[in-house]
Amino acid sequence: MSQEVRKAVFPAGGLGTRFLPATKVIPKEMLALVDKPIIQYGVEEAIASGIEHIIIVTGRGKGAMEDHFDHSFELDATLERRGKKELLAVSRSVASLARISYVRQKEPLGLGHAVLCAKELVGDEAFAVILPDDVIDADPPCLKQMLDVFDERGGSVLATMTIDGPGISAYGVLAGSPDPDNERIYNCTGMVEKPKLADAPSKQAIIGRYVLTPRVFELLEETTPGAGGEIQLTDGIKALLKEEKVFGYTFEGKRYDAGDKFGMLQATVEFALKRSDLGPQFREYLKGLAL
Ligand code: UTP
Repeated sequence: MSQEVRKAVFPAGGLGTRFLPATKVIPKEMLALVDKPIIQYGVEEAIASGIEHIIIVTGRGKGAMEDHFDHSFELDATLERRGKKELLAVSRSVASLARISYVRQKEPLGLGHAVLCAKELVGDEAFAVILPDDVIDADPPCLKQMLDVFDERGGSVLATMTIDGPGISAYGVLAGSPDPDNERIYNCTGMVEKPKLADAPSKQAIIGRYVLTPRVFELLEETTPGAGGEIQLTDGIKALLKEEKVFGYTFEGKRYDAGDKFGMLQATVEFALKRSDLGPQFREYLKGLAL
């Protein structure tokens, strides 16, 4: 199957409890990494990968995301009046980044449920899923790398990281075998959610980027909710790989879990150091700390 992937779903209906109290009122996806909300990094990655339509799955109290990707007339008018041309361009460019639709997940019933909420907007075509709190620094963008694999192999693609050691127990882990022709591709036959190190079927941990065929929607609809009434995306993908080819793909680049305090701190330091306007000053500051 070769078809163009035009749409990317951003599940953003979760509660973000790991970041309380910051996320009591502000959506986790709107927390700033240096000076940009973390979801904007994902939206920019999707656009740079050729995606035309962004679908954000929102929830209660998540209205700030819609305002962020819209025009802010008061702000723009004030910046214009004050002659702040560069800042005005920054504010305006966010509003014209992409075509964005929103769908509401009325209750946070799991990642699979959030993806299912986008079914009508996606329709009968392959689509990408980007978890906004996984910020990935990669060139070419992680999603672009995955879309190339989807085009070449014609099956769903899950981004993975190789994790050697007990850290693997925090992830969904692939079962299967490495592809004989491409060391980054893993031919997937199963997956285990958060296994103990001794039970992990491989070192391939699934992270927050997916390219999926629309069949996964029907399979998610048939999935029985687990504990807490949640529908897991991995259960839908487990059912999918019994019918279709599913590949793991060890992307080239670095992923930060910005939905977690430590991951956000790492990302903040590394992204700030890379910035031409902040990096040199920040580097000197870090060097001067008595660590
Ligand atoms: P997480 O488990 O990382 O997010 O889900 P969370 O539940 O918001 O955060 P914590 O664990 O309580 O701190 C990964 C992504 O899936 C979305 C989240 O918004 C996040 O972007 N999600 C999760 C939904 O959209 N709906 C859900 O029901 C659950």
